[in-house]
Parts: sequence; structure tokens; C-alpha cells
Amino acid sequence: MSTLRLDTVSLSYAPVGADDGLVLDRVDLAVRTRDFVAVIGRSGSGKTSLLNLAAGFLQPTAGSVSVDGKPVAGPGADRAVVFQDDALFPWLSARENVAFALRLKGTGPAERARRADALLERVGLAGAGDKAVWELSGGMRQRVGIARAIAAEPRFLLMDEPLGALDAMTRERMQELLLTVWRDTGAGVLLITHGIEEALFLATRVVVLAPGPGRVEAVIEAGFGRQFLSGRPAREIKADPAFVAARERLRDLIDPLETKAAA
Ligand SMILES: Nc1ncnc2c1ncn2[C@@H]1O[C@H](COP(=O)(O)OP(=O)(O)OP(=O)(O)O)[C@@H](O)[C@H]1O
Ligand SMILES: [Mg+2]
Repeated sequence: MSTLRLDTVSLSYAPVGADDGLVLDRVDLAVRTRDFVAVIGRSGSGKTSLLNLAAGFLQPTAGSVSVDGKPVAGPGADRAVVFQDDALFPWLSARENVAFALRLKGTGPAERARRADALLERVGLAGAGDKAVWELSGGMRQRVGIARAIAAEPRFLLMDEPLGALDAMTRERMQELLLTVWRDTGAGVLLITHGIEEALFLATRVVVLAPGPGRVEAVIEAGFGRQFLSGRPAREIKADPAFVAARERLRDLIDPLETKAAA
């Protein structure tokens, strides 16, 4: 069991000493392996900044980011990232993209190809290994990105709106894929999303960020994803009164002004 922890993390992009520009204000967040934490909030509330801190791409202005008590000094193989825009290497095939992390680890070519093909099959892309990135649809690219991220068997999977650009049908299939990947890898997931229903369906815990500066507004325990993994159909879960009530509560938390205007 491992824990990725953000402890009273504040972030400012302004130069040291400038008193403005606080983007995150004393954020506490812990992701343990086998947790599925979704972070949701309005545009500009600091979600991507938070993910970049967890990934080690950014250092906090105050507070600390650590894995099992050890400060995160930069990116590491224990924390894989799936970016919003698929960010594949365009000069590599689908298989080579997935195998990339294994190459860094020193795995030999034959084993790399075998494991990459197994991972592509895992995300529903069996037989697509030789395809060039430009031959893949957006949804297929995102699946290659997910396969690449899990290739190195990271303890934590950090994803920034990985399904944001997909059409509704593909998005639902991909949500289900994320749940099975989460179950099968045992990784701790940190998912950034705009989607209220998506956060609630997937996560064991939903963290609501309020903007200006970004801070934790609420934390809601969920667990509908486990119902799906136990065999309950997604449509039935999303129509469940408990799901609908939680969704409306989240909506109120995220957009109180809109809720007041509608009242
Ligand atoms: N590199 C940067 N330099 C300066 N300011 C930045 C930088 N990146 C983000 N910001 C600012 O930090 C704030 C939070 O941005 P961030 O991208 O983390 O928000 P977000 O919640 O991910 O938004 P979205 O939902 O639109 O993706 C914004 O006000 C943004 O302008
Ligand atoms: Mg963002």
C-alpha cells in the first residue's frame, strides 16, 4: 500500500515575494493505491495545476507533495500521467508508443513488443500495434495513451480530463474501461474531470475544488464504480435515486450561483 499525499499545498505562478497569483490555497489530498479520486471544479480552479504538482512537473510554493513520506522532487515511474490531449509520439507506431516506458526500463525488444500488444488488447485495440498515430481516431489515441501509462505498472495513474474530447458514447465505453483498468492494475487513480456524472460514476472519492484561489470545497465519498464492477449495468446505476441525489448535490457545490439563479 502506497500513499500519494498533497499536504497543505499552495501554489503561485507569480515570482517569489509577489503577493498575488495564488492558484491553489492549502490543498490537502491523499490518494492511496486502490483509491479512485476524482477532482472536479470549474475552469480555472487549479485542477491541472494540482495534477502537475502530483506528477512532479511543478513544485509547490508552500506545503509538500510526497509518496510514502518521501518528497516528490520530479516526475517518476511510480506516477504515470495521461494528458488531456493524447500526447503520443507521432513518429512511433501505436505499439512503440506503448512500449516506450518499457524501453526506458531496459526491457528487451521482443518482450517489449509482446507486452505492448497485450496492453493494446487490454484497451480494446488488439491488432492495432502497427498503426501510425495519424491512423487512429481520438478515442483510439486516448486508449493508446492509457495503455502506455499502465505499461510501466505505476503505483499511481494521474489523468487530466482523459475523456474530455470524446463523443458521449465513446466516453461511456472509456469510463467502463477506466474502471476495469483500475481494478486490474490496483493503482491509485487521480482523475481530473469536468464531468459531474463521470466523477461520481468512477470515483471512490470526489474532491470538489472551488476557484479563486483553488481550494477544497467538499469531499464526497462515492463507490458506484464498484457496483459496476460487480455487474450492475451503468445505466441502472446512473438512474439510481442515490446516484441522482449525489449528482445534484455536487452540481449545487460546483455552481452555486447558477443554482440560485434557477431557483
Ligand atoms: N503556467 C502558468 N503560468 C501562470 N498561470 C498559470 C499557469 N498555468 C495555469 N495558470 C493559472 O492558474 C489558474 C488555474 O489553472 P489550471 O490550468 O490549473 O485550471 P483548471 O482547473 O485545470 O482549468 P480548466 O478546467 O480550464 O482546465 C488559472 O487562473 C490559470 O490562468
Ligand atoms: Mg485543466
